[in-house]
Amino acid sequence: STDQPPGTPPVVGLIGGSGLYAIDGLTGSAWLRASSPWGEPSDELLLGYIGDQKAVFLPRHGRGHRIPPSDLNNRANIDALKRQGVTEIVSLSACGSLREDLPPGTFVLVDQFIDRTFARAKSFFGEGFVAHVSMAHPVCSRLGAEILAAGEEVGIPIVNGGTYLVMEGPQFSTLAESNLYRGWGCDVIGMTNMPEAKLAREAELCYASLAMVTDFDCWHPDHDHVTVDSLIKVLNDNADRARALIKALVPRLAGRNVACHQGCHTALATAVITPPHA
Ligand code: ADE
Repeated sequence: STDQPPGTPPVVGLIGGSGLYAIDGLTGSAWLRASSPWGEPSDELLLGYIGDQKAVFLPRHGRGHRIPPSDLNNRANIDALKRQGVTEIVSLSACGSLREDLPPGTFVLVDQFIDRTFARAKSFFGEGFVAHVSMAHPVCSRLGAEILAAGEEVGIPIVNGGTYLVMEGPQFSTLAESNLYRGWGCDVIGMTNMPEAKLAREAELCYASLAMVTDFDCWHPDHDHVTVDSLIKVLNDNADRARALIKALVPRLAGRNVACHQGCHTALATAVITPPHA
């Protein structure tokens, strides 16, 4: 529907990864300290408008990049965004490439994940209240389509589809691990999108992830293995293009029907196994 007044839902949540600690073009913006029963989010939330569309930005690692991947309070982050009325989350993250044809500087609209993390709280549910949401299709195709269209609008090429291997970190992979993930058919590697995507699904939010390649990890015979120094050079250039993309993307989402045809907003309808009387 296009008949919603400006500023009504959907509200876009933007989670910025390494190199993305603020957003351009937000009007009326203010940092807001948000609380959550799950603890502290990574930072204050930056609330504002791009055009008529409300957006809420959260720097995933905090301003100044203070929080390592394993210590991110993903539950507080997702919960804090949801409490601001967010209905769709665009996740932006730096990643390594596991493929020759995805060189540094490439943007990949991820459509699958392999979750190899093991030291993180992964669910809002637990003892006493058990739910199993579907993660077969972890990315919202409707939101993904808008990201692709925004890329076209501003002349930023985006590879449509890719499998993102989420590792625990904080160390980078061994060569054997990197080759293993390549053999599994993974395309990019990072440390942050899980359990973020799982929690977004449990919170019944649309979620799409744009992975921005900074390096060839350590598998490529013609490239040095990844170091933070080499990564930061590409990171800043990627972040500039990501900001331009966001500026085009967010207004595109204004006024559209909140209900997602893929069912992101009703993910729990068939997921809770604990009976109401138990
Ligand atoms: N983030 C950026 N580059 C990465 C890599 N090679 N492995 C894991 N996370 C990354």
